[in-house]
Amino acid sequence: MTHLSDMPAQNLSATGQRHVPPLEATPLTQLLDMENLQQLTLSFSEATGVSSAIIDQEGKVLAASRWQRLCTDYHRANPATCARCIESDTDLALKMREGKDWAIYDCRNGLTDAAAPIVIGDQHVANVFVGQFLRSAADEDFFRHQAREFGFDEGGYFQALHEVPTVSEEKLPAILGFMKGFARLVSSLGNERLSLQREVRKNLEQERLLIQQSRLAAMGEMVHNIAHQWRQPLNALSIVISNIKDDYDFKELTPEALEKAVHHSRRLLQQMSSTIDDFRDFFRPDREPGEFDVAHAIDDALFIMEASLKNNNISLEKQYAPGLVVYGYANQFAQAVLNIIANAKEALQGQNRPDRMIRIRLEQAGGHAILTIQDNGGGVPVAVLPRIFEPYFTTKELGSGIGLYMTKTIIERNLHGTVSAANHEHGLLITIVLPLLQQDTQK
Ligand SMILES: Nc1ncnc2c1ncn2[C@@H]1O[C@H](COP(=O)(O)OP(=O)(O)O)[C@@H](O)[C@H]1O
Ligand SMILES: [Mg+2]
Repeated sequence: MTHLSDMPAQNLSATGQRHVPPLEATPLTQLLDMENLQQLTLSFSEATGVSSAIIDQEGKVLAASRWQRLCTDYHRANPATCARCIESDTDLALKMREGKDWAIYDCRNGLTDAAAPIVIGDQHVANVFVGQFLRSAADEDFFRHQAREFGFDEGGYFQALHEVPTVSEEKLPAILGFMKGFARLVSSLGNERLSLQREVRKNLEQERLLIQQSRLAAMGEMVHNIAHQWRQPLNALSIVISNIKDDYDFKELTPEALEKAVHHSRRLLQQMSSTIDDFRDFFRPDREPGEFDVAHAIDDALFIMEASLKNNNISLEKQYAPGLVVYGYANQFAQAVLNIIANAKEALQGQNRPDRMIRIRLEQAGGHAILTIQDNGGGVPVAVLPRIFEPYFTTKELGSGIGLYMTKTIIERNLHGTVSAANHEHGLLITIVLPLLQQDTQK
């Protein structure tokens, strides 16, 4: 037996819903190309002398050029001046949180920085900072006084001060313009990626759901068949039990008769148990794709449907070219065929004709296997025909509309084949074309 499906069922909960992490959990670094952004902040700093950084809402630095030594080595290193730095950080962060699209802050340590928010998916996720810089030539008296007040080594402090760039009033709009534009660009890049991710997520989810639904439908088919196949051994068991009781009542229950009854019962139970095993194999997923014989896979699907077809007085005509081997997931292919046969059966159920039949032909044409499945169940109205492979398209009251969509997806995506449908004679004709694995070894 091949097995039904390699679908990653572990991603599905009992209700068929896939567990998708909430969007908030999407790390910014996955949305944004951090390496390029880092390069950009470095280039900006090299070109202008002004540092810049992207810092997320938790204070994590995602990209940054080198900070000013005046800040890192002096102001941030001393508790009193550091408190002023934090004041500056907080003020800017607050303004960003209030929804300002940019803000500038002159800190009490004599420097200036500015910030603009990055907003992705309506969430304010990070800020772009530029700074620190001086807005005019350094007021040396102010900084000398500051060095003395906080005990900074004056020589080193002034050296660091001279490294701080001055951004004149004329140059300021350009720097702020860059910052605002940069924040907007990062936001829109992030938004683009986010909607792309959402789209992909949605599609994945939908596909998984479809596979799960069609798997459930196949399981329903299976239970139906097991029930049918058990009917005969269950009847037989019931007769064996009645016989034992009768023999006992008439005092005719010899050890030999009892032994025979037990033996018979065991064989019937064995038969029932192996029916379950056969079906269960069909639903065990293939872990890996591989070479498989197309005819065997078709028979696997037919095996699941056998009892149903018989129940509905549907005769089966099979004609297989032997030894056609393709590469892929055999179980999925069997599922694809099963969906088609289930449709044929359902179409025939609605037809009051004595010669209900499904004809399955497997042939070779060049490097391809051609599988046709034809029924005489009345076919599809011409207006409907182009739509039958669409997801959720159904004309049945209780239909799901996913069977043929599933079939098409499996045939095209996993087996690189094609599938088409046409009305032919008194029913529908489905044609599947699959590329054969080894052309030269085929007959
Ligand atoms: N063998 C067939 N005979 C007639 N109509 C069919 C046949 N196979 C498919 N169809 C049409 O295609 C539709 C889509 O089929 P499918 O995707 O399997 O969904 P469902 O069986 O749940 O309706 C069906 O509702 C039916 O109208
Ligand atoms: Mg169907």
